[in-house]
Amino acid sequence: MKKYKFVFLAGLTVTVSTIYSCKTHFTTPQINYTAVESPRAFERGKALAFSICAGCHYNRSVNKFIGTPIHDVPGIIGKVYSANLTNSKTHGIPPHYTDAELKYLLKTGIARDGRFIPYMLRPNMADEDINAIIVYLRSNDPAVTPADTTIGLTRYNIIGKLYMGMTAKPLPYKPGIKLPSDNVALGRYLVDNVGCFHCHSKSFTSLNYLYPEQSKGYMAGGIKFKDEQGMFIVASNLTPDKETGIGKLTQQEFLKAVKDGEAPDRKLHPPMPKFKQLQDREVDAIYSYLETVPPVYHKVQG
Ligand code: HEC
Ligand code: HEC
Repeated sequence: MKKYKFVFLAGLTVTVSTIYSCKTHFTTPQINYTAVESPRAFERGKALAFSICAGCHYNRSVNKFIGTPIHDVPGIIGKVYSANLTNSKTHGIPPHYTDAELKYLLKTGIARDGRFIPYMLRPNMADEDINAIIVYLRSNDPAVTPADTTIGLTRYNIIGKLYMGMTAKPLPYKPGIKLPSDNVALGRYLVDNVGCFHCHSKSFTSLNYLYPEQSKGYMAGGIKFKDEQGMFIVASNLTPDKETGIGKLTQQEFLKAVKDGEAPDRKLHPPMPKFKQLQDREVDAIYSYLETVPPVYHKVQG
């Protein structure tokens, strides 16, 4: 009997040490950066926060960035909630971060306590845009004024911890990126940084955040989402294929689909956001860029 007990204990020790040796904590170097406020940065930051962060952090029940449960994470790894991004001293995150720590988190995915947070990596975001987002988060806009409340705390179970440890890949910290001025380059930048390619490629697990075009099935659609009634919504093929992609949409129709959620043949369902805060010029740039992506014949069915 004793022997079996020993084998069991040895097995347990190996399993536990494997889990703990998977790296989920990283060091955060000291970088120097202080956000520069201006009315222009505030406006830009607000538009970006509503186009990018709102999808996961904005709560429509109170119209504030107090966080939401993240349903698209498989339940098998545990429960995931986004954070309260208001300026609450007790429950909000921004008051406990320096500007430099926020910038580092957004670029690399590494939080100030060294945790790797994989949901919002923006390694290629321009310095100007990161600055704008931070200025907005620190502002008096009603959506970020203090709300002393928590929606829920993220808890990974043992499978989740193992999975996170195995997949944790912080990205390099690359500052000094400028906003592109060329139309097509701007479109590519927005598809990357607003995050269109996250939902419109083959799967969340095969995204390449550093080199988006190298993601599997880049922009050819197919990710399935479940809506509140349990119906499947499939993200569209946004490559310029005439039959199965957006090759059939005019620039005007594309603009209406992206900003108002109205495609020529149907009303678009969530989780496709209504990108009200993107300028027409920016959506046109996205359209011009998508026309340069290789067309892929991939019929997606919703
Ligand atoms: C795809 C969903 C998603 C998007 C988009 C997103 N976040 Fe998050 N964010 C999360 C989740 C989930 C957590 C909490 C993770 C956890 O608890 O481990 C989080 C946590 C945070 C935290 C807390 C870090 C900490 O130390 O706990 C900050 C700050 C943050 N997000 C800022 C932002 C900003 C700013 C944006 C927009 C530029 C953004 N997030 C976009 C999902 C997202
Ligand atoms: C959170 C996931 C998500 C993000 C982010 C996202 N989309 Fe979508 N998108 C979808 C889904 C799902 C659909 C399908 C909706 C439906 O069929 O009702 C869709 C549909 C579309 C359509 C309709 C095409 C057609 O005629 O079938 C366009 C155009 C579009 N998205 C453009 C964009 C652009 C541009 C961006 C970035 C600025 C973007 N999407 C970001 C999920 C997303």
